[in-house]
Amino acid sequence: MAANARPVSTRLASSPSQSPAPSAPSLVLLALLPIILSLLFLTFLALQNLLPRSFTLSLPFPFSLLIPQKLGGYSHKTSVESLHHTLTSLSAYRSSQQSSLSAKKRSFRTLGSTGKRYAQALGYQAKLEEITRASATNADLVDGLIGLGKRDFEGGWGWRKGAGGGRPEPGRVIEMLKHFVRDWSTEGVRERSALFTPILSQLEDLYPSMDNFERDNLRILVPGCGLGRLAYEISDLGFDVDANDYSYFIASRLIFKHTESINEHRIFPNIHSFSHHRTAQDMIREVRFPDVLPKPTLLSFQPGDFLELYRQPEVYDAVVTLFFIDTAQDIVGYLETIYRALKPGGYWINEGPLLWAGNPRMECSLDEVLHLARMIGFEQLDLRSVDSDYTGTLDGLFRYIYEAQYWVMIKPKLTLPDSDVVDPPSSSSSSSL
Ligand SMILES: C[S@@+](CC[C@H](N)C(=O)[O-])C[C@H]1O[C@@H](n2cnc3c(N)ncnc32)[C@H](O)[C@@H]1O
Repeated sequence: MAANARPVSTRLASSPSQSPAPSAPSLVLLALLPIILSLLFLTFLALQNLLPRSFTLSLPFPFSLLIPQKLGGYSHKTSVESLHHTLTSLSAYRSSQQSSLSAKKRSFRTLGSTGKRYAQALGYQAKLEEITRASATNADLVDGLIGLGKRDFEGGWGWRKGAGGGRPEPGRVIEMLKHFVRDWSTEGVRERSALFTPILSQLEDLYPSMDNFERDNLRILVPGCGLGRLAYEISDLGFDVDANDYSYFIASRLIFKHTESINEHRIFPNIHSFSHHRTAQDMIREVRFPDVLPKPTLLSFQPGDFLELYRQPEVYDAVVTLFFIDTAQDIVGYLETIYRALKPGGYWINEGPLLWAGNPRMECSLDEVLHLARMIGFEQLDLRSVDSDYTGTLDGLFRYIYEAQYWVMIKPKLTLPDSDVVDPPSSSSSSSL
């Protein structure tokens, strides 16, 4: 190469001071880039809410967290926290059961020799061993749920055992096992037929002459759906159902996505307490589930906080709440969300107790809840009591019966006259409480 010849690469690598200044149009473009990207993102969000759900896209984690509305996917911060907490609690189940059984066995060993001989005659030690085996069977199912959660939710949305997820609550896992019984086993028929029948026949009465084709134009929301059996039964009548819960979605996925045959799964839901059993066998009774294989229906699961997911007005023809409204930290927010989500002329069907838990802002009596609903704009069509237990043990010596309150309300088609709808008191009249 001649001494004065300059390789092209040298020119490209020359210092910035030597590079030509960017042209004015490209500087403008650069400055506008964040705005253009934001506009594209907003268009994407808007399209997501306009398109039919089958066309919606879901972004991979962690980008999915950026999406504030339902996208036919698992996009919500609350869902992530809930999933992590569920996985943490599931992962504590086996060891917590082992230690509680060890404590029982230690206590038994302190029995005197005469007592032990009687216990032997009763088969008590054998029962303890059976409970130990049953507990291991439960723990195997629970481990399966952890695997499912990690597999189906992109590595459990970043969950790692022992890191985050809050304080493990194995008691919630026991509740989950009982919900499998309530929703998906033949043992749950008593509770389901007491509670589901009024709701399902109400929906059939409200939309009587429709065949399934017409019903699939009617959208029904079931917030706090638990393991989804009621939502499934409603969809099986032909309605288009959105089932929402911020917990339990690993468990419902087991039923809806990972079950191939009736009674494929087995658990021992009664081993967690030695109290109130009629027979020793009742405690170690195996329960199989599911009692049906869900058919394909118009049912979509939407994990997340109901208050955050359903802000869009006038989407649903009916909202069905079962043992749900008393989970509210903010009952006003719950009722307003239900009211707003309903189309004019839409129905709210509720059934459940008023068992306020946690530290809600208001803990209303029945008359207060009904009054509140009327102030928000609902018109009450029906009100009665339905007796039922909730995740009760079949044939147990203890039953906790709720006088669940069943009501139907309508969001009137026309705005009510001012005298019927009460505006919330203005802030100037609020008390110092
Ligand atoms: C008492 S359980 C009832 C479950 C089901 N409806 C049944 O009757 O079996 C209440 C349910 O509401 C859910 N939940 C509570 N607050 C919620 C919220 N803000 N958004 C969505 N789900 C919620 C809980 O995870 C739980 O599954």
